[in-house]
Amino acid sequence: MIIAPSLLSADFSKLGSEIEEAEHLGVKWLHIDVMDGSFVPPITFGADMVKMAASLSKLHLDTHLMVEHPEQKLDAFIEAGSSSISFHIEATSHAHRLLSYIKLKGCMAGIAVNPGTALEEIFNVLEVADFVLLMGVNPGWSGQKFIPTTIARLEKLHAEIENRGIKTLIEVDGGINSETAPQVAARGADIMVAGNAFFGAKDRATALQALLV
Ligand code: DX5
Ligand code: ZN
Repeated sequence: MIIAPSLLSADFSKLGSEIEEAEHLGVKWLHIDVMDGSFVPPITFGADMVKMAASLSKLHLDTHLMVEHPEQKLDAFIEAGSSSISFHIEATSHAHRLLSYIKLKGCMAGIAVNPGTALEEIFNVLEVADFVLLMGVNPGWSGQKFIPTTIARLEKLHAEIENRGIKTLIEVDGGINSETAPQVAARGADIMVAGNAFFGAKDRATALQALLV
């Protein structure tokens, strides 16, 4: 199980040391939530944030693009040092082409799907995606409550991947805490994003352990 702390919940007054602390605690992936104020209301980070994280650490930089026109943004985030990039099925009609492009550039490619979108929307790109980012909340903010129907969606997605005999990984993003993490882990998630549950915790070492049981 990979735990990917989300920088969105870190203390913005000391982002550098927040990243270093995560790495020091043995975290391997860092989740970077890019929001454009259009696909979702808030505006967060650009490619320079990925560049900064790459210069400070050896973490796998997991860029989650919550943006319109993802095709216009891919090169900047690839060049900045992203290790994986996901974009939303709701934001493009060209998911297959964009996933192939990201992989061609040497990054892992992920397709993200909102809670209100039928899972079947991504079924035709499961083979070309390295991973699916299954939202457990509506994108835009950290610290929201996990939407319970995500569990049945995760089961369905996991079964589809197993039936096809493919290796597509599943990342669950939003609402992960010590209560929801075991439920998600037991149903086939490979990667869990933790915003509030990691960066919001006083004792982050203990918080990390609590997500791994
Ligand atoms: C939501 C973001 C998530 C968020 C997770 O729009 O994509 O990555 O930061 O935060 P928590 O874990 O607090 O729900
Ligand atoms: Zn995210």
